[in-house]
Amino acid sequence: MIDKLFNEYQAKINARLDILLSESDKQYDEVVRAARYSLISSGKRIRPILMLEFYKLCGGDDDCAYNFACALEMIHTYSLIHDDLPCMDNDDFRRGKPSCHKQFGETMALLAGDALLTEAFNAASRTIGIPAGRIVEALTVLSANAGINGMIGGQVIDLINTEQISADDTVQMYLLKTGALINSATVCGAILAGADEQQRKNAAEYAEKLGLAFQIIDDILDAEGDESVLGKPVGSDSKNDKKTLVARFGIEKCREFAHTLTKEALAALDKFEGNKENLVAITEFLLSRKY
Ligand code: IPE
Ligand code: IPE
Ligand code: MG
Ligand code: MG
Ligand code: MG
Repeated sequence: MIDKLFNEYQAKINARLDILLSESDKQYDEVVRAARYSLISSGKRIRPILMLEFYKLCGGDDDCAYNFACALEMIHTYSLIHDDLPCMDNDDFRRGKPSCHKQFGETMALLAGDALLTEAFNAASRTIGIPAGRIVEALTVLSANAGINGMIGGQVIDLINTEQISADDTVQMYLLKTGALINSATVCGAILAGADEQQRKNAAEYAEKLGLAFQIIDDILDAEGDESVLGKPVGSDSKNDKKTLVARFGIEKCREFAHTLTKEALAALDKFEGNKENLVAITEFLLSRKY
């Protein structure tokens, strides 16, 4: 069931991304080729899928949220391109192929990331068929989560505080660098559908639990995953001497954390009325994923 669900969503998301960032023969189109190289790829599309599922769960019954969902995927992809740069994690593989900077050079990779971030907001603001007030509210959430008090803040802690960081600060870092964009997925999906305050709170609670579990599993896969399945290097965290929860507590303990967090995420989901079947399957898949 999960394969079919993913295939259907991925096909529609990829088709929209292809339109939102289409190639032309302009002189400066090298940046579009670099951005598309990373964007139109084997990414799981978890964030847009979650947004579209929360949109449906909260009453959205059409395809109007696709531009917004793709905008989130564009921001996520920019964060990966920059995360791989030599001045950050210095990783040469991503999504099963050479990282953007290995293929296009650092200058173009930097600009491709900048382009994706900027074009994402252009795409999101061109959402049609949803009341403008909801779009503005969702844009506020999306930009805050991508910014200093969200993903960027988390990346700063990740990159500059590797030595003295406490376990609590590491959790905080995970909530920011990974949880924040996942919060955008669920909360923006809810907002665009016109969710009430309680539904938004539940969506945020789910994202917090799932986001933490997601980064813990990412760290476990970095320690013991299969590179050919994962599509990115194994051992990046130890190479960079990252103080991950896995480095601190070991794989078994972290697996337990991820299990508990997944249960808590499912409990938050349970607070919603309506059909949660897809979201339950996605949440469980993310715990057992190998890529
Ligand atoms: C990787 O995210 C970066 C993290 C926040 C852990 P994903 O595991 O969703 O990567 P893709 O999009 O499938 O490549
Ligand atoms: C990345 O965390 C979070 C981002 C905001 C990109 P990681 O550095 O662990 O992600 P991967 O393992 O390179 O995908
Ligand atoms: Mg990183
Ligand atoms: Mg990295
Ligand atoms: Mg990682």
